[in-house]
Amino acid sequence: MNQPQEALLPAPPEISPESAGMPDAATKPRVLYSRSEAHESAHLHVSGSATYVDDMPELAGTLHAAIGMSAKAHARILAIDFTEVQAMPGVVGVLQAGDIPGSNDCGPILHDDPILADGVVKFVGQPMFAVVATSQEAARRAARKARVEYEELPAVLDIRAAKAAGELVVPPLVLVRGSPEEKLASAPHVLRGTWSVGGQEQFYLEGQISYAVPREDGCMQLWCSTQHPTEMQHLVAHCLQLASNQVVVEIRRMGGGFGGKESQSGIFACIAALAARRFGRPVKLRPDRDDDMMITGKRHDFVYDYAVGFDDTGRILAAKVEMAARAGFSTDLTPPVITRAVCHFDNAYYLGDADIRAFGCRTHTQSNTAFRGFGGPQGAIMMEYIIDSIARQLGMDALAVRRINFYGTTERNVTPYLQVVRDNIIGEMVDELVATSDYHARRAAIARFNAGSPVLKKGLALTPVKFGISFNVPHFNQAGALVHVYTDGSVLVSHGGTEMGQGLNTKVAQVVAHTLGVPLAQVRASAADTSKVANTSATAASTGSDLNGKAAEDAARQIRARLAAFAAPLLGGAAEDAARVRFADGAVALHGAQGACSLPFADVVAQAYLARVQLWSDGFYATPGLHWDARTLTGNPFYYYAYAAGVSEVLVDTLTGEWRLLRTDLLYDAGNSINPAIDIGQVEGGFIQGMGWLTSEELVWNREGRLTTHAPSTYKIPAIHDCPAEFRTRLFQRPNPQETVLRSKATGEPPLLLPFSVLMALRDAVSSVGGHRVQPPLRAPATPEAILDAVDAVRAGVTEAPGVTLHYERLA
Ligand code: MTE
Ligand code: HPA
Ligand code: MOS
Repeated sequence: MNQPQEALLPAPPEISPESAGMPDAATKPRVLYSRSEAHESAHLHVSGSATYVDDMPELAGTLHAAIGMSAKAHARILAIDFTEVQAMPGVVGVLQAGDIPGSNDCGPILHDDPILADGVVKFVGQPMFAVVATSQEAARRAARKARVEYEELPAVLDIRAAKAAGELVVPPLVLVRGSPEEKLASAPHVLRGTWSVGGQEQFYLEGQISYAVPREDGCMQLWCSTQHPTEMQHLVAHCLQLASNQVVVEIRRMGGGFGGKESQSGIFACIAALAARRFGRPVKLRPDRDDDMMITGKRHDFVYDYAVGFDDTGRILAAKVEMAARAGFSTDLTPPVITRAVCHFDNAYYLGDADIRAFGCRTHTQSNTAFRGFGGPQGAIMMEYIIDSIARQLGMDALAVRRINFYGTTERNVTPYLQVVRDNIIGEMVDELVATSDYHARRAAIARFNAGSPVLKKGLALTPVKFGISFNVPHFNQAGALVHVYTDGSVLVSHGGTEMGQGLNTKVAQVVAHTLGVPLAQVRASAADTSKVANTSATAASTGSDLNGKAAEDAARQIRARLAAFAAPLLGGAAEDAARVRFADGAVALHGAQGACSLPFADVVAQAYLARVQLWSDGFYATPGLHWDARTLTGNPFYYYAYAAGVSEVLVDTLTGEWRLLRTDLLYDAGNSINPAIDIGQVEGGFIQGMGWLTSEELVWNREGRLTTHAPSTYKIPAIHDCPAEFRTRLFQRPNPQETVLRSKATGEPPLLLPFSVLMALRDAVSSVGGHRVQPPLRAPATPEAILDAVDAVRAGVTEAPGVTLHYERLA
């Protein structure tokens, strides 16, 4: 894998007057701050001394909870006999829905998500009760002893069945532009088909966990592995009938969240808090991996019905799609997820007339939720499959069809939801990647290889990414921060974001260090804590550093302004020289008529304290210019777009369906990257995670609705062995035209869409079996079985396989 190195960067990083907000910016060359600093916790991660919630020393008297789960997909609970449970060693008590003093709900949008099932269960794995005992082992053993009597009810387990029955968690989303039906009728070529893509388990390394400690006067303190401390605070307050000021939630770091801890940490926080309140003792709830996978929601799997009309050059004239997502038993975050799917169906392409619909289908399975990309990947991948099919139908290279459909820069630049694409650089990035990856020469080499290799077949594909950055609910796009400068010159920054391994704390600390001109080692980021920064949004939608970086910068700038005003006279200047005081390299300096005068930052701070200058500040940021009309599905939902492109080459064994990824080249638009090492890590990690979604990770529910793939033994995430032998990742270092923090761009989610290139390369390899004359019906995940189904179909000259159909119509 690539070592993130300074050598990959265009210029040695420097602190510029401009990025430090100084007035003589216009006269100075434009070099922005960018440094590959180590992750603030790297030394703790590698030495095993980073503290996760389960590593915290337990308070005396701590109890442990375990969850009793439904064994039925849909049933009335007639009775539960806890006699044997109560008799088990160590058991302190059992909690059911009736023991909840406040609201029995942990739904983030609608209130259809019971903490503990009340009378009816709606999926296999649904929490029905909690057993509280003196050890985790005791609680778990006892939970299995409950005898539950059910009356079974009919269960809907299939997305299409739910859609047909009108079982939807919200009304369908409908976005129609122009006259797609007429355009389809008059298009020279039309492809119609059905397709499907699987769901995905977040598989955070650290599972869900909450530790609740009762405090005086009915208050509750919690440590939750969560991306959304404020939501945990609210849910716990509602379920215990407390005010928000009585609940404190803290999280130093998560061992991964990936969207799975945006809303779904709530049920664990609530049960732990409920037990802590009931028994007046600290309670920890840490489900094991299997229980975690049985209880929590995943990425939504989708089924699609589509039609696309195009001309002889491959240009799309009209597109129509119905995307049906498995919401699961409750609403959770499905509405914004399918909204993001609608807003990413276009990916990087101008669609002309379009009819885009999305359905959140209610099934008796886990309630699906956020997962890196948040519906965006499911929207965009359908379009990539369509483009790939158009190219094959016309006998063109898919890259040529992609290029002809890219958004323009001055025309053909309006999205179906009416946001104008103003920052489009996809054409330029693809040109660069085509050159650096040697795309055309390798395409020719692969054709030669395949001509001489009857069983092993190679495939190649280049796919683009355009991803909208901002929460698609405008008011979530705000953040707060608190910066403390202590009298020794050390700095502590608290902000509204949570650290889940993505390097947010490192970036925010870098922004603060840069703003105050002190070494990064002098700045520490604190744990996220609802009592320090209030009313935070989830760390999600890839906005963590955009929002919290800006808020922290705002706080640091206020402190800097006060210090500058205080220091100007000390440095031999007048009061009006404050604006010319420089903060860099741990010093505060002023270039006056008598030359430069400089003092160590810590000395200035110590003196400022004696002069009673406020050395801490709060900061705030709200992303400008966003609006969204949820009724018409139009507006300006995104502050900017992040772009990327990837090329992947695969080798497929057409007898077994097994394959290897030979080489991948990625180019990612990180704007002016604050930390290229961390960003490259995000790009490579997102790529591999997305590749798992599209190729090896398969969720299988049996006929009773029981998830049968609930552990790593049956659910295959990618490992180091699945990484490409050649993995070349580069950042496209061009400052964001929008005024983001240090002109950077988000890197959290968009890389998950880069392995579209792997799926399309697999389809290309399968296609070669039929001389590229038959459309391979390849579903995702493209497991070896799916690949073999597609190979068989191509050999038989048919374009159908389980879950996939495709029909071509030519204008008569
Ligand atoms: N990287 C790591 N290591 N662990 C994670 O859990 N979550 C992803 C992404 N990268 C995640 C990650 C998701 S789903 C999001 S939305 C972003 O990080 C959130 O962090 P950011 O906004 O600070 O990039
Ligand atoms: N991403 C993640 N979470 C969200 C979003 C989003 O776009 N919108 C609302 N919650
Ligand atoms: Mo990320 S799916 O927005 O937590």
